[in-house]
Amino acid sequence: MKDLNVLIMAAGKGTRMVSSRAKVLHPICGVPMLRLICDAARLLQPDGIIVVIGYDADLVRASLKGSDVNFVLQTEQRGTGHAVMVARDLLEGMSGDLLVLYGDTPKIRHETLRKLLEHHRGSGAATTLLTAETDDPFGYGRILRDASGRIEAIIEEKDATPEQRAIREINPGLYCFRIPPMLAALDRISDKNAQGEYYLTDIVSIQREAGARIEALLHEDFPELQGINTRAELAATSRTLRLRKNQELMARGVSLVDPESTYVDLDVVVEKDVTVHPMVTLQGTTRVGEGVTIHSGCRIRDTVIEPDVTVLDSCLITDSHIGHGATVGPFARVRDGSSVGGRCRLGNFVELARSTLGEGSKAAHHAYLGDASIGRDVNIGAGVITCNYDGARKHATIIEDGAFIGSDCQLVAPIRVGRGAYVAAGSCITQDVPPDALAIARERQNIKPEWVKRRKRAKPENDKLP
Ligand code: UD1
Ligand code: CA
Repeated sequence: MKDLNVLIMAAGKGTRMVSSRAKVLHPICGVPMLRLICDAARLLQPDGIIVVIGYDADLVRASLKGSDVNFVLQTEQRGTGHAVMVARDLLEGMSGDLLVLYGDTPKIRHETLRKLLEHHRGSGAATTLLTAETDDPFGYGRILRDASGRIEAIIEEKDATPEQRAIREINPGLYCFRIPPMLAALDRISDKNAQGEYYLTDIVSIQREAGARIEALLHEDFPELQGINTRAELAATSRTLRLRKNQELMARGVSLVDPESTYVDLDVVVEKDVTVHPMVTLQGTTRVGEGVTIHSGCRIRDTVIEPDVTVLDSCLITDSHIGHGATVGPFARVRDGSSVGGRCRLGNFVELARSTLGEGSKAAHHAYLGDASIGRDVNIGAGVITCNYDGARKHATIIEDGAFIGSDCQLVAPIRVGRGAYVAAGSCITQDVPPDALAIARERQNIKPEWVKRRKRAKPENDKLP
């Protein structure tokens, strides 16, 4: 929208969170709270977004890195009116509207902001605010209306009379101001009140006395507008947004077997015809391609899963890439920039760290593959271990296309197994294996016939042996 600027207040600490971090940094479904309200504001395509920061300023700034917002520092938090005053230099000379929001209200939908703005612009008011009704108005500013129903003032809980405190219509804290009259009214706000703060809400009575038009629009969905003050509210809000995200995914063709127990971060992308079983967590920047099935108990973070992959139960996959049609798990751990090629099979209890597995390769049971580059169509037997760490440094293992590593081998890195080579089961490999060779590195078996019988005969007490 043209001639629109947004100001988001995010300078407070949020004492009731009992945290050393600023409240607006706490994540909701993987995203810092402040970014969510910024995202909603950004969908209105305003000319600019101003964020007022104070507590933890550097971290709050960093949480919005890469975005186009202007930061204003409010070193001392002297009230919501003061928070707008510190942005005065930026607002001076602007002619349009200013939408003022709080950084701790992540449930607000951009549609609601749009509704507020459209009403504001349609009515030509100097100020428009949303209000809500609740049976538990404690702590909120109350909306005072005159006999004809026009808003007169907002009175804070601490300044209110008992009669005023009984009012159920409250101020949730979303305002749209025409900027020049707002700046004029801001000059007239004082801190002579119960809290000694500059109340932004005083603009209403100041403008009303000056005869300006003020609109107060009742919003039906109060919970949407509620901010977060405590950890319990953080958890409840996370749940609300998580279920909202799950509804969106299902509407776009994702099957969630149990949406109640599916945890998908807000930035995660899931394509259609994906099936997600119960107790699955998809985090960060994860992208899941079409036709993928993810079974119960998996957690996948910052990972790309290409189409038609099957992830079996109880896998932990982080910072990695799983290629088209691969099967992973159950109980697999893939981490730290690993890449599993198309049609690969990474099976039960296999750990892959900083390793690549070429197309069609298999490691089906109990293996540790660290710092390994493994080619195409390689077979890694059960119990294979890359010995990549010498106590000080990590070393690379290279296994070329078509190689076959028998069960229970150790590959002592740095090491290379050539194209098509075989390594016999139970080998401890310490020298490179040339292409197409067979390497056997194990003790030869020794058979002692009748040894048990002889032992038993040697001494009478040996008779008790099994
Ligand atoms: C404010 C409203 C009240 C409304 C309530 C809704 C005022 C005077 N009162 O009260 O009518 O019902 O919100 O939640 O506006 N902030 C700053 N700098 C400051 C002060 C606040 O950035 O100097 C930020 C806070 O970090 C917070 C938000 O503004 O995110 C609201 O501040 P808070 O002190 O919680 O306002 P309330 O007193 O609850
Ligand atoms: Ca508050």
